Amino acid sequence: MFELSVHNKTSNFPPTILTIFGATGALSSDYLLPSIIHMDQEKLLPKEFKLVCVGRRDFTNESYLDFIIKKSKAIKKISQKDKKHFLKHLIYFKGDFDNPSSFAPMANILSDKEGDRHICYNRLYYFATSPQYFASIAHILKNYGLLTSCADHERKIRVLAEKPFGFNLASAKALNKLFLKYFSEDQIYRIDHYLGKETVQNLMVVRFANRIFEPLWNKDFIDHVEISVLEGEGVESRGEFYDQTGALKDFLQNHILQMLALVAMDEPQNLTTELIRDNKVKILKSLVPFDPKAISENLVRGQYQDYEKDLGKPSGTETFLALKAFINLPRWQGVPFYLRTGKALSKKITEISIHFKELDRCLFKGCAGNILTFRIQPDESVHLQINNKTPGLTAQLYQADLDFSYHKAFKGEIPPAYERLLLDFLEGDQRLFIRSDEIEAAWKFVDSISETWNGKNSPLHKYQTGTNGPEIAEEFIKKDLKEWWTK
Ligand code: BG6
Repeated sequence: MFELSVHNKTSNFPPTILTIFGATGALSSDYLLPSIIHMDQEKLLPKEFKLVCVGRRDFTNESYLDFIIKKSKAIKKISQKDKKHFLKHLIYFKGDFDNPSSFAPMANILSDKEGDRHICYNRLYYFATSPQYFASIAHILKNYGLLTSCADHERKIRVLAEKPFGFNLASAKALNKLFLKYFSEDQIYRIDHYLGKETVQNLMVVRFANRIFEPLWNKDFIDHVEISVLEGEGVESRGEFYDQTGALKDFLQNHILQMLALVAMDEPQNLTTELIRDNKVKILKSLVPFDPKAISENLVRGQYQDYEKDLGKPSGTETFLALKAFINLPRWQGVPFYLRTGKALSKKITEISIHFKELDRCLFKGCAGNILTFRIQPDESVHLQINNKTPGLTAQLYQADLDFSYHKAFKGEIPPAYERLLLDFLEGDQRLFIRSDEIEAAWKFVDSISETWNGKNSPLHKYQTGTNGPEIAEEFIKKDLKEWWTK
């Protein structure tokens, strides 16, 4: 049985206080609070639950909730009754990382909730800020008594760090070192919300629960792999943060490389945390670093036309990236992985397609290589393109899909990634979170790109909003006699 993330006994969760640092930012309003509110409506939270939301601004509990509801596009509806119920959990706390003493009252706030009812709460801390604040938050937790245990009980203390974990290999290593000074690896949850997506989890199921794919999953049968993550929206209100990361560090270092690891990894012996991570890290460590001399042949950078206008200043940050990567392992020798991501494109779509080689010899005219496509979002589905005969007296071939659509097969909504991952965090299941060596291996590969590229070997190509990125990205793949599958 597939046993990743099974949540059916949430009412048995121990009493928990979840503290979110960065509670007024876009991540909190777009993803975290909508998920927690929905989990409250669905009764998925622990019976004894407190949510402490930390931000710099002045808010009461009520005005903070109103602010989130107004700001968030993801909160569809919330009744007065649900709001009242949610407010029972909610405590807004004003704190400023640049003024650590503003956190002095926090220990009392957390333990007051325990003292009056003699409850020992697990303490979970979510670092939902830019990584530049992670070290300050860790020090605050340590220095202001927020990691202490209860008098006569054991409590679980866990920390969850949003992506990106650092800005490069050196800063990620420094953060890992600091975190490991205060916490053990099993208390640290480095998140990548793509791993919480149902369709990303399905990659492992399709690969390892079906006999027909694994024997073909190698360089002898696979011509190339494409992972495309296209987004329709621009940077919106996140420009200031995005400008520090660009597509390379916002998307490639984490979401795309994690999906690549799941596509390319060997079958783990079982579904335990460390074995899954060991197999992913083997792939990430085997990514061939970018050769500075060949960067212009292997990578395209772009920026959408209005980016600087959205940002309000000139910028050399890429909002589009297409590149070709290789994995130096016998299974994948010579197989190109075409990776592509960008903002302000024609639509939002994430797809992984496995392009099988054409037959060496085909009896019929017009045989095409099979293509297995995982549509991660939207219209979550899996498609296998095969050659068929066109009806009639000719021997013409027709490429058609064998389809599996989540929405046709199952009723109801697919659980949002953050809900699944928050439940894992509450429960203490690390299988969908990233280990320190995985993070470092991914940064090592990304550093080989960011330390080499410059305006000369990798110029920034402007592209029109609503297109599929700079035209040169089409030529880039065409010169290998291939084309982007995701349109
Ligand atoms: C975030 C990125 O991690 O993922 C954003 O920082 C991006 O730039 C978002 O828009 C996309 O997530 P999803 O789940 O909507 O595909």
